[in-house]
Amino acid sequence: MTPRLLAGAGAAGCAVVLAGCAGRPQSALEGAGTRSAAINDNTWLMIIVGGVVWALVVAALIVALFRRRRGDDEHSRGGGLAVVIGGLVLPAVIIVLITAHAITILDRIDPRAGGDGTVIEVTGKQWWWEVRYPDDEVVTANEIHIPTGERVTLKLDTDNVIHSFWLPALTGKMDLIPGRTNETWIETDEPGTYWGQCAEYCGLQHARMRFVVVAHEPAEYASWLAAQRRTAEAPSELSATTQDPLVADGYEVFMSSSCVYCHTIAGTDAQGVVGPDLTHLASRETIAAGTLPNTRGNLAGWILDPQSTKPGARMPATDLSGDEVQALLAYLETLR
Ligand code: CUA
Repeated sequence: MTPRLLAGAGAAGCAVVLAGCAGRPQSALEGAGTRSAAINDNTWLMIIVGGVVWALVVAALIVALFRRRRGDDEHSRGGGLAVVIGGLVLPAVIIVLITAHAITILDRIDPRAGGDGTVIEVTGKQWWWEVRYPDDEVVTANEIHIPTGERVTLKLDTDNVIHSFWLPALTGKMDLIPGRTNETWIETDEPGTYWGQCAEYCGLQHARMRFVVVAHEPAEYASWLAAQRRTAEAPSELSATTQDPLVADGYEVFMSSSCVYCHTIAGTDAQGVVGPDLTHLASRETIAAGTLPNTRGNLAGWILDPQSTKPGARMPATDLSGDEVQALLAYLETLR
């Protein structure tokens, strides 16, 4: 392969790899947060310096090949100096500069430098994320809503195996380790939706342990929080005009089936803590930790046979009749 072909193949390979990283919902190259910006600064410095060094080494290699071919011995006299400069001095200078830059980056992303405002507790489960807002007594799952323009502290915990919280658009990874609480923070000025993923193998459904961070303008965040603080009301307590018999039937199905042993619906007798809190299930974009869009059809399939979507999930199949499922779906859709 000629040097030109080699360089062309190398460039094409790099383009394919970089194209795979950009323009995706979990792209590490399109940061929108304070921490991801610092990490990206370091990444691009390493890519550029590494690229320049690679180009210099290849150029030196090509020059050496052609000189040897000419049988020209007089150039070898300066070789010792070239080895000292190119092989010792230059690498030492580059490594020291890159290390010094990396130390300033570590300071910018220090996980202990969280804010004084919003604190969110995130607990890794098998295989979903419990999200608590301790100051507001709000509990949700797999969706972390944050205000923009504020440093939000995350307290990361697990009650089972090790997981890793990875949110490439806003921050790097932080492990969730049994028996200790790890802290980190996220901060962004750009409202939007940012996908994250468990990044430590944690069992059969590790790959389907996703979550989403939704960044709101502060006023919008306040109204989201206020809505999440509301507890559900039993359909029998609603006024006659808003009373839907199908919803009331669905409420009875939920309360009389095994759902209540694992799920909480705040304001009702359902106070299970094994599975996700369902008080505001209908307000979420996805179900099963980002596995499926939260549609009526997906929810029905998930309730009847979760194992076909997530084999190994802790949720057992449910033995309900068609009418019971329809009523249950009608009730769950009211949990906004
Ligand atoms: Cu949790 Cu992988």
